[in-house]
Amino acid sequence: MNDMTPTSAERAAKLEGMGCKRKRVEDIRFVQGKGNYVDDIKLPGMLYGDLVRSPHGHARVKKIDTAKAAALPGVVAVITAETLKTVNLAWMPTLAGDTQMVLADGKVLFQNQEVAFVIAESREAAADAVELVEVEYEPLPVNVDPLKAMTDGAPMIREDLKDKTDGAHGKRKHYNHIFSWQAGDKAAADAAFAKAEVTLREMIIYPRVHPCPLETCQCVASFDKIKGELTLWGTFQAPHVIRTVGSLISKIPEHKIHVIAPDIGGGFGNKVGAYPGYICAIVASIVTGRPVKWTEDRIENLSTTAFARDFYMDVEIAATKDGRVTGLRCYTIADHGAFDACANATKWPAGLFSIISGSYDFPAAYCLVDGVYTNKAPGGVAYRCSFRVTEAAYCIERAMDIMAHKLGMDPAEFRMKNLIRREQFPYTSAFGWQYDSGDYQTALKKAMESVDYKKLREEQEAKREAFKRGETRDLMGIGVSFFTEIVGAGPSRACDILGIAMFDSAEIRIHPTGSGICRLGTKSQGQGHETTYAQIIATELGLPADSITVEEGNTDTAPYGLGTYGSRSTPVSGAATAMACRKIKAKAQMIAAYMLEVHDDDLEWDVDRFRVKGNPERFKTMTELAWAAYHQVPPGMEPGLEAINYYDPPNFTYPFGAYICVVDIDVDTGQTKVRRFYALDDCGTRINPMIIEGQIHGGLTEAFGIAMGQEIRYDADGNVTTASFLDYFLPTAVETPHWETDWTTTPSPHHPIGAKGVGESPNVGGVPCFSNAINDAFAFLGSTHIQMPHDHWRTWMAAEKLGLHA
Ligand code: CDP
Repeated sequence: MNDMTPTSAERAAKLEGMGCKRKRVEDIRFVQGKGNYVDDIKLPGMLYGDLVRSPHGHARVKKIDTAKAAALPGVVAVITAETLKTVNLAWMPTLAGDTQMVLADGKVLFQNQEVAFVIAESREAAADAVELVEVEYEPLPVNVDPLKAMTDGAPMIREDLKDKTDGAHGKRKHYNHIFSWQAGDKAAADAAFAKAEVTLREMIIYPRVHPCPLETCQCVASFDKIKGELTLWGTFQAPHVIRTVGSLISKIPEHKIHVIAPDIGGGFGNKVGAYPGYICAIVASIVTGRPVKWTEDRIENLSTTAFARDFYMDVEIAATKDGRVTGLRCYTIADHGAFDACANATKWPAGLFSIISGSYDFPAAYCLVDGVYTNKAPGGVAYRCSFRVTEAAYCIERAMDIMAHKLGMDPAEFRMKNLIRREQFPYTSAFGWQYDSGDYQTALKKAMESVDYKKLREEQEAKREAFKRGETRDLMGIGVSFFTEIVGAGPSRACDILGIAMFDSAEIRIHPTGSGICRLGTKSQGQGHETTYAQIIATELGLPADSITVEEGNTDTAPYGLGTYGSRSTPVSGAATAMACRKIKAKAQMIAAYMLEVHDDDLEWDVDRFRVKGNPERFKTMTELAWAAYHQVPPGMEPGLEAINYYDPPNFTYPFGAYICVVDIDVDTGQTKVRRFYALDDCGTRINPMIIEGQIHGGLTEAFGIAMGQEIRYDADGNVTTASFLDYFLPTAVETPHWETDWTTTPSPHHPIGAKGVGESPNVGGVPCFSNAINDAFAFLGSTHIQMPHDHWRTWMAAEKLGLHA
């Protein structure tokens, strides 16, 4: 080796593998406006579909007259439930085991529900014709309050289920009841409460919110009558699931359906499920023999496609006087709207909500969730969340703060005392989850030191005294949250979607010149998968990340996978990628041994090559081995260098984090300024620190939006009053605070590269942190819990209730 020979470290740096802040390769096309989204797809002869929607929250549909609409120039057809019945598609199955009307069949159950589908030569003609469809409605009593859904005399939402005493998840106890689901040990929890020294009980509401991807939901359906094949381009977070479910519903054989998710402008759970617009576009294409595009507008997206949260959590904590938690109970009413179209793993009607014991060592815990129907839009998606983890984390983190105040303890100290200790991992929670790894105390300590927590509390104390003396009208709040996520659905023993086990996949093909392609069952919606999967391969195979193409979203080419949501891509497909690499590497090692005329075991791996142990001058690089794989393989070995891996994770991964936020509130206006927000995340092995930081910035911004203003509201008549960005808070760069990010690294012991997911974490930890900060500001005045969202009006009202405006 001479001085010019690059060292192993220099060679490793050139690969831009794991740990490198590699620039996002997809941004080259995105920032130049060269992305290829569904709306960019324009096929010859393409028609446009638009939906007639209900102005009522609950009404009987007496008559639909489509004559005037059909007569409008440019209109090709108008489809109603009656048309869909001829192909047995008036109703469709949901992921949660319920059925949902595709187009109104006898009744409408929520405002803006789909009633008819107009197909026209242009978007404009379709929109004009929507106005001409005449629907006669007979309004019915409305219920949008989940707490009243199971009372006597509440309006019956689902007449189709009137006589059904059983639902998809067991007995129904009321005509508006969907399911009861419980976890934990009730007797043990009750016993803990019976002998508790201190208890608290609080109703904690996580309002109905909605993810706001830049791009709304849309599709283009093109049915080829000659071949009997359907091609469906769409904004799909889970293309293979759409293909399988599409085949089961339409009876078109699965191999004759081609689902393609091109570039997607954000998903956040909103694009997991199937919507009536997709079904209508498919039927329209079959009926007309022409491609049909359906594009949702913003109002339709906000008011009808899958909402998130809407959980009413009656939580209790038991503790000793000196601040040790002894028990947890939570009864939740989950508002699922008019149809149970919740996008959960099928066996989990309340998702992974039983992660509600959070990061704390509760010896006993129990939770019960009742799902109910109301006159609201269906959904229940994991908006930057892993199946109801966000609700659970919000609930426990608010409850822990309230308990700390009740005990007269500092909220951070109270948490520190109850956090699961490092030596307890792998830790089995009272709900039975096996937390894979963690070092919680170190993370919280680092967070507290980084913001100088002690000094902040001293400043707060001085400000409180000044407030009491009337010298200031500002209140200072310090929010602390410590969260544990559960991501990477999932082990197939625990998770499936409609019977399809939740694994994921990667297929890697290395070309003779040492470049390659990796195809996966996941689908990026902006997370940077094209950049990061290539980094895993770079480190695993010693090939430059730049030489690997990453392709997702085409069911014809990608191996079967369950898609991207709930931060599952890294825990599941990231693992599949590493495992496929290892198969390739094992083959390459045999080729190297053959070429170097040594035994396999005499070789060792060095960044990008196999070298002979004790004789590092004799080696074969991965690029050389790729070439050899196509013309110089050992006798009896198949040529080529490729592998596929379907990865069924042995467990979830459990990322965690410690967040601290400081706010200043003007009690006379309710105006809240976020002075500081510090987020420490631990997602195990970090693949791309720059992308992680971007994920955290995005997730925190969404958390800020949710905590400080987002809510899908309905009035008593069932009108949705927040269906545009004039009424629904979407933070812009102007409102968004500055984020300080930090990390610790505790690898997952069961993941091939030790990585855990990260995309959801900032939302899971961020929302309670903001809410705790607002609540903390008022806590010394006797306030227990102010419900979200903490917009200026509600914050002003909280001050008013405390008599601060007198
Ligand atoms: O499933 P989804 O892509 O939404 O979530 P994720 O697995 O948390 O990954 C989000 C992005 O962060 C991806 O580009 C990952 O590769 C990256 N990431 C990372 O660089 N290191 C980790 N330990 C986890 C995620």
